[in-house]
Amino acid sequence: MRNSFISHASTATVVFMLLLLSTTCKAQLSSTFYDQNCPNGLSTIRNAIRTAVSRERRMAASLIRLHFHDCFVQGCDASILLEDGERNALQNRGSARGYEIIDSAKAQVEKICPGVVSCADILAVAARDASVAVGGPSWTVKLGRRDSTTASSSLAEQELPRFTDGLDSLISRFGTKGLSARDMVALSGSHTLGQAQCSSFRGRIYNNGSDIDVGFASTRKRRCPGTSGQPGDSNLAPLDLVTPNSFDNNYFKNLLQKKGLLQSDQILFSGGSTDSIVSEYSRSPATFKSDFASAMIKMGDIGPLTGSAGQIRRICSAIN
Ligand code: HEM
Repeated sequence: MRNSFISHASTATVVFMLLLLSTTCKAQLSSTFYDQNCPNGLSTIRNAIRTAVSRERRMAASLIRLHFHDCFVQGCDASILLEDGERNALQNRGSARGYEIIDSAKAQVEKICPGVVSCADILAVAARDASVAVGGPSWTVKLGRRDSTTASSSLAEQELPRFTDGLDSLISRFGTKGLSARDMVALSGSHTLGQAQCSSFRGRIYNNGSDIDVGFASTRKRRCPGTSGQPGDSNLAPLDLVTPNSFDNNYFKNLLQKKGLLQSDQILFSGGSTDSIVSEYSRSPATFKSDFASAMIKMGDIGPLTGSAGQIRRICSAIN
């Protein structure tokens, strides 16, 4: 009896130790990762991002999106930055931008500490600094990601959400990355910034459904012709029609008025399970900002390469 108690107790201890080990192995990212070997790395990135955003406010949006599109395909491993691969996926081609800003931040960091700071970490830090530069929340970025040696355009096409996705499919795409529906709504709030091309919202403004404000649709039609294949395809419209250059909760207020630009925006407030979250964020900018920050940290944790996996690229657009 006593022996069996002891053996149960020691089995429990072993299981506990294994669990502890597995969590510590997983939690390899750390905010102090470069404190010893590149203490000025983070401030160098911050300056590069501040300069870029002060030249063009939209760049803040583009950099946040770049980090998101990186993390959703093979994890946050800078795979999106490689010249051949994800960049050419339908959701990125002619649309994802900011590559040259990351390249230039990397070049500046390489000058002070060569071969130390990964492109994947630069993307994560740049997204945070971009948010701060346009009045968005700040958060502590965990570091220590390494860079991939591969990128696949077909994988990116499978993994990245599409503006035609239904609510269930969006929720499940985020779910498979460990993000809840609430995280998804908060993260979609980054559409408070930036622009979309006519080809991304044509279907929504011309389908004359009841989930779109009529005046809003007709204003958007002026610069977005009804048929594709014309030069107007790339005409831009702000994702947040009120304040596209500042990080606030107007995006959610727009959804309440059926003035979401993308179908995938409006679907977050269309009688489904996420309506209450949209309403909450439309009332409380503070809740939105703090949930956004937490969700960005969670997003930054998706499948990083750590330890000796991958590499630290010398330039972000090519493997060493
Ligand atoms: C929920 C699923 C999502 C879909 C279907 C979606 C789709 C899109 C589309 C179609 C555009 C416009 C692209 C173009 O016309 O060139 C866009 C822009 C943008 N997206 Fe999303 N998005 C989603 C979620 C997110 C998330 C989670 C983030 C960030 C964490 C994000 C950040 C942005 C930003 C900032 C822009 C503007 C980029 C710029 O102006 O350069 N999106 N998104």
